[in-house]
Amino acid sequence: MQQKLYINTNLATMVPNDVPYGLIENGAIAIADGKICWCGTGKEIPSQYVGWDHQDLDGRVITPGLIDCHTHIVHGGNRASEFEMRLEGASYEEVARAGGGIISTVKATRSTSETDLVQDALAHVDSLIGEGVCTIEIKSGYGLDQENELKMLRAARAITQQRPVNISTSFLGAHAIPVEYKDNDDAYIEEICIPAMESAHKEGLVDAVDGFCEGIAFSPEQIERVFIKAQALGIPVKLHAEQLSNLSGAKLAAKFNGLSADHLEYLDEEGVRAMAEAGTVATILPGAFYTLHETKYPPVDLLRKHKVPIAIATDCNPGSSPLSSILLTMNMACTLFRLTPREALAGATRNAALALGFGDRGTIEAGKRADLAIWNINHPGELSYRIGFNSLHQRIFGGAT
Ligand code: NIG
Ligand code: FE
Repeated sequence: MQQKLYINTNLATMVPNDVPYGLIENGAIAIADGKICWCGTGKEIPSQYVGWDHQDLDGRVITPGLIDCHTHIVHGGNRASEFEMRLEGASYEEVARAGGGIISTVKATRSTSETDLVQDALAHVDSLIGEGVCTIEIKSGYGLDQENELKMLRAARAITQQRPVNISTSFLGAHAIPVEYKDNDDAYIEEICIPAMESAHKEGLVDAVDGFCEGIAFSPEQIERVFIKAQALGIPVKLHAEQLSNLSGAKLAAKFNGLSADHLEYLDEEGVRAMAEAGTVATILPGAFYTLHETKYPPVDLLRKHKVPIAIATDCNPGSSPLSSILLTMNMACTLFRLTPREALAGATRNAALALGFGDRGTIEAGKRADLAIWNINHPGELSYRIGFNSLHQRIFGGAT
């Protein structure tokens, strides 16, 4: 049995209580067999742990292992040329309508083998792991036919054979309309998206079903058809909603008890209320906001008012958010969206776990997975404050260093 005691640490447990960050100063934590068995102050270490192999952390902070709950890390190619086009004045929507955008990544992804997709993804996965990330959500959505959607999901799953990290997959067949179904989007949903979802589910490749509800993508009615099927298969749903306009996508996600609604710049109070009632997490994505030079802010005050849990994520993708740093995402969430450092850390731990439906991680508590990050800082607020600086000391994944 693998046992370890860490002492002389400031534990940001992220357990919601009266103490900011659920902080335990001068704390200690005991882990065994991949799980946390006890945590508390150094003065109250139960006698059964005292003799364990231990490490003195010299006041360093331990947080839950970070969670990136919204990424498109598996994809072919890149879109650096569109970055340039947008800087010359074209909007994200104009680029998409001209056949660029998501569709250009579809072309690149279709012509990339599963092995190469995994290889390309690893560079971004390594960047996240190097910042204390232990769980990453990865979406399909650049295949848009049965073969390539499944290829993307298999590539996402295969990452766990190459790196010590948890991967949660989302089937995003309803991401864009492929050229072969241009002007035939209803047929795409019936003939490709739903059957591909069923096959992927049969192969055990789908942890959640996602969609893109937007003028340049799918209508609420079309997304609802996908969600009805997902529900029948027992798969939880989530949705890219209210990113460029308000189509009441968040309300739709809430109607299906969605795990999360993501982006949300154009979300209104009615949508916020629906999310609060359904327990749907608001995942906000500062990388896309920043890259697209968006000027409308997600309604953070309304989310706070109605007590909707807020998660944050990189949205790592080749178009709207070529961002592979969760620490920078936390800083951006504070500076751009005015989250407090405490909310930003909750967004990349406890609430990110909720957005993925995981009850076994995201906080430091007895019984949870021993996914932890040890930082060369003395207070957790320092994590969101620095820009482009990584203070990770050590990552612990399932109890292993
Ligand atoms: O989360 N909004 C839609 N999907 C992605 C964009 C993907 C892309 O531009 O390739 C997003 O921003
Ligand atoms: Fe996305």
